[in-house]
Amino acid sequence: MKVDPSAGLDGHFAVPGDKSISHRSLLLGAVSEGETVVHGFGRSEDTLSTLEAVRALGAEVDDDGDELTVHGVGLRGLRSAEIDCGNAGTLARLIVGLLAFQDGAFTLTGDASLSSRPMERVAGPLRQMGARIETTGGRLPLTVHGGALAAIDYELPVASAQVKSAILLAGLGAQGRTTVIEPAPTRDHTELMLRQAGVRVTVRPQSVSIDPPERLRLDVVDVPGDFSSAAPFIVAATIVPESRITIHDVNLNPRRTGLLDVLERMGGRVGVVGRRKLGQEQVGDLEVRSAELTATSIGAAEVPLLIDELPLFALLAAHARGESSVTGAAELRHKETDRIEALVDALRAIGVRAQGRPDGFTVTGVPARPRGGRVEARGDHRIAMLGAVAGLASREGVEIEEAESVAVSFPGFYDLVGTLTK
Ligand code: S3P
Repeated sequence: MKVDPSAGLDGHFAVPGDKSISHRSLLLGAVSEGETVVHGFGRSEDTLSTLEAVRALGAEVDDDGDELTVHGVGLRGLRSAEIDCGNAGTLARLIVGLLAFQDGAFTLTGDASLSSRPMERVAGPLRQMGARIETTGGRLPLTVHGGALAAIDYELPVASAQVKSAILLAGLGAQGRTTVIEPAPTRDHTELMLRQAGVRVTVRPQSVSIDPPERLRLDVVDVPGDFSSAAPFIVAATIVPESRITIHDVNLNPRRTGLLDVLERMGGRVGVVGRRKLGQEQVGDLEVRSAELTATSIGAAEVPLLIDELPLFALLAAHARGESSVTGAAELRHKETDRIEALVDALRAIGVRAQGRPDGFTVTGVPARPRGGRVEARGDHRIAMLGAVAGLASREGVEIEEAESVAVSFPGFYDLVGTLTK
């Protein structure tokens, strides 16, 4: 796939439903009472893995395109199954929490990338609750034998919404109040949806607790647009001169929009209009115009608020005057690829000066178009999107290897790019 230089992006559009919320709507819908109708489901390879998983576990799902109806089997009603998680880390981590207290035995597998990612971070705390879980050297394949669980207070060693969520979901079936203490705030979609389902959720500045409910009831989930799928367009419209775009109905949960705060420090021009609530989540429309940027640095406390946008931040930094840096982001090495290595290689391949560090990276920015070249996505959707945006903002275009990996989160990505570029 080759993405050519653009003379500006122009248009009004929406992006697919949020991936994190889509996964959660299926998982919680499956263990709810009665029907859960999901509007605006973000259909992608990852969320389809979750759809197949809940079906394998015994929950029927009517799939009417944009609207799904999940027929819940109740909190303890999942049946034994083998589950292929594909590339989906969120599915693999969250589901273990739900399976730990079911009456059955379960096996999880995944693709080569997911099978190289750490699972002990979830299995460890769940074992402390009494769960029977075996990993394969700390990774997938993993088996769970469901049984009785006892609540724990658990201090997360790394800021991870996936690990936090797995423990909270296990807490649904545990005896007593489960508390998770976070080193820094991470996305709270699980907490918000549990509250909607009638669960008592207690949020304190550094921790969250849940009390096990009798039952869950969701009824309707409205999924807002995925900020992480809007992000490539926010970045493209910022760095390609003569751009002006509006992205409608984007999720603006403050635990997800760290990129907007970073962009503001750099001199970006992003306006938020029509801020409103959609179910438990905040949404709004984003108006983005091109801007001249200055360098900035990002530290550990801010990292979780833009964890999936850090590759795109690296590209912003490449266009910003001065040296930008990210620290406290060692977690990037455990994503779909080692994203520190992948993004540094991608930037260098298009003629940008970048340097990896054990827990982050630095980029030397120049307010001009980089040359372009060939970017290896390494099967990672976020790196493929970085390559595409880099192509729009380059002098000679960018060729992307394994470009099709965008389908993990955003199957129509290149078509949308094509309709916006002048
Ligand atoms: C996610 C949490 C993040 C993020 C991932 C989705 C979620 O992972 O990178 O894309 O839906 O909870 P970690 O919690 O492991 O950082």
